[in-house]
Amino acid sequence: MRAVRYERFGPPGVLAIGCSPEPHAGRGEVRVAVRTSGVSPVDLALRAGASPSRDSLALPHVPGVDAAGVIDEVGEGVAGCAAGDEVFGAVDVSRLGGACAQFAVLAFWEAKPAALSWEEAGAAATGVETATRALDLLGVREGKATTLLIDGATGGVGSIAVQLAAARGARVVATGRPGSEGFLSALGAVPLPYGPGLAGRVRALGISRVDRALDVAGAGALDELVRLTGGAESVVTLADATGPSRGVRLSRGRFCGEPDGCHGLAVAAGLAERGLFRVPVQGVHPADRAAEAHAAAGTGPRLGKTVIDLAALSRGGPAAG
Ligand SMILES: NC(=O)c1ccc[n+]([C@@H]2O[C@H](COP(=O)([O-])OP(=O)(O)OC[C@H]3O[C@@H](n4cnc5c(N)ncnc54)[C@H](OP(=O)(O)O)[C@@H]3O)[C@@H](O)[C@H]2O)c1
Repeated sequence: MRAVRYERFGPPGVLAIGCSPEPHAGRGEVRVAVRTSGVSPVDLALRAGASPSRDSLALPHVPGVDAAGVIDEVGEGVAGCAAGDEVFGAVDVSRLGGACAQFAVLAFWEAKPAALSWEEAGAAATGVETATRALDLLGVREGKATTLLIDGATGGVGSIAVQLAAARGARVVATGRPGSEGFLSALGAVPLPYGPGLAGRVRALGISRVDRALDVAGAGALDELVRLTGGAESVVTLADATGPSRGVRLSRGRFCGEPDGCHGLAVAAGLAERGLFRVPVQGVHPADRAAEAHAAAGTGPRLGKTVIDLAALSRGGPAAG
């Protein structure tokens, strides 16, 4: 099959279309003919050779953890879906990629709601899973009035966390780069600029108490978030490895023994059907320009996800090389 791949670690320019062995759906999995795949920070770190998982990566490697497409193979033990179904989901994280190809095997998935475009659906899964897991860990739930601060909220995970938290009834204060206020307000948050002095800016809003905080960016705000919430136990970080030394939980997902947030896909799909959830997409790039997609995803400002359109690989168009 045709796939976006890299044969060596390096800058986005190492990405090129080439041939790769077709994967097949194992037990509990489905295979999809891929339409779209969102770019995640883990894809960038792996490609650059900057991930601790670098040594376990066999080259050439096909990047991409999120995908949307049409099921064409159903693995043993899978019920409730069939070839031809349109779905969105993610590969098994232990595979570290495989979505940027004609065919990809998904470990978890959900029916694609008509309300989400292919571009949105292919960019949703990691953000939804991660945000759901973090909100569960923070105890943000319906029927419990919570003011939640999300630091670094305009990117892939943050823009989804804002909406899922708002849907659970939380009042969400979300930070972004100056200029992103309209984007964050439209997602349902009270916007604030990120950076030092956050506590003062929160107080200036007239908010006397922040109950919980989610550090998405890992940009050094943990001490301030702990002060704002009044305790390290009220803060979760997704990206700051120093969290545990400060008593802050670092959420890493099911491979580190945490309950996953995959149940969030069905919730997000339901919210999308009711017009209460979308996946902000910053840009869409064809497969033969995957390098541009990685370059765009790797630099701010970010207003949602960057997506690679893989449909041309299956059509045998120019991108099929
Ligand atoms: N632990 C897990 O399970 C898990 C899962 C998924 C992702 N992650 C990690 O979580 C992080 C975020 O993922 P993502 O997909 O949302 O990344 P992303 O799309 O690249 O977004 C990063 C966000 O951080 C913002 N940011 C940059 N500098 C900041 C600062 N000084 N203060 C506050 N915010 C700042 C960015 O804004 P601008 O670029 O506009 O400045 C953007 O909104 C990444 O480090 C990723 O590796 C962890």
